Amino acid sequence: MKRVLLGLGLAAAVAALLVAAGCASLATPEIPGSGSPAPSGGGGTVKASQQVKDGAQLYVSLACIRCHAPDGVGGIPNQLNVGGDSTIPPLNNTYRAKDEQFANPQQITQVLDEGGIVSKKPGIINMPSWKGVINSAQADALAAYILAGFPHVGVTYDPDPAKAPEIYEAYACIECHGQVGLNATPPPAPNPKTADKEVPGLRNPDDNVPPSELRSVLMEGSIPDPGTKGVIFMPAWGQILSVDQMNAILPYIADGKAATKLPPPAATPLPLAGGSSATGGASPSPSGSP
Ligand code: HEC
Ligand code: HEC
Repeated sequence: MKRVLLGLGLAAAVAALLVAAGCASLATPEIPGSGSPAPSGGGGTVKASQQVKDGAQLYVSLACIRCHAPDGVGGIPNQLNVGGDSTIPPLNNTYRAKDEQFANPQQITQVLDEGGIVSKKPGIINMPSWKGVINSAQADALAAYILAGFPHVGVTYDPDPAKAPEIYEAYACIECHGQVGLNATPPPAPNPKTADKEVPGLRNPDDNVPPSELRSVLMEGSIPDPGTKGVIFMPAWGQILSVDQMNAILPYIADGKAATKLPPPAATPLPLAGGSSATGGASPSPSGSP
């Protein structure tokens, strides 16, 4: 798997965004993150507290980066959101309007807890609630990283994972759904306000949800009524995953016996896991941090 240092893939990512967004909105005055480069040793990384480093890793492992873009510049298209924002908002204060800049961590941790449902319309991308997926130390670390202005601390990510086990980790499927298969570890995240009391597990050999149905939930999401807070829901991935990635992941999570022969993804713990509501999950990649 191709991993790039957070920041280095950025020029390409921004270029891709500009193309995707029809060249409009991202009027970035400078390369994001360039306000704090420190070419000391580790390849353009800066010094930061452990909390901020953990936040940087969580930003990758929880797939924030897939929707809010590297360095929190936002701009990923949310085209079906007619009447609302046609792109996903930036989280980096440098790219936010003056009167909308984050001033304290609670503004961020509250969104992580509650989520933000703008519309139930199939395919619209809404902000997931991560309540019970992450613990409060992890939410605080994400907020610290965001407020610190997305410093480059040596965390790497793969901009376009192609293989199913890598997609399952990179898009945080594993954080909500747990390891593939029945009674696997880590288990799905608890979801107490729903009838099932937890997020559904994927790849059930005894169940037979048709692939077409799995595909439509994957693309369109499963969104509660606007105003619902603190319920984990299935985000719409139709505008985030490529067609190739969809075609790779669907047979991997399919019900019935066939998929059980496919190798499971690695399930390495997140930084700061071990708090009461942590589910365990994907990886702290120690990479080349200073
Ligand atoms: C599936 C895509 C998706 C993922 C994954 C995602 N977000 Fe969001 N996020 C959104 C969308 C869409 C909005 C805008 C919601 C709205 O307009 O109310 C949003 C809004 C937010 C906001 C509020 C922004 C504002 O302008 O008030 C914060 C903070 C936030 N997300 C942080 C995160 C963090 C941190 C993560 C990773 C743990 C994350 N998001 C993962 C799609 C996503
Ligand atoms: C923020 C948590 C979260 C993330 C991340 C997430 N899901 Fe889901 N997903 C859910 C929830 C909750 C449901 C159940 C929705 C419902 O029943 O209304 C669900 C439902 C599904 C279903 C339908 C399952 C069934 O048996 O009907 C599929 C398929 C699915 N998700 C695949 C994925 C894949 C693949 C990924 C990664 C690309 C992913 N999900 C990422 C929370 C999540």
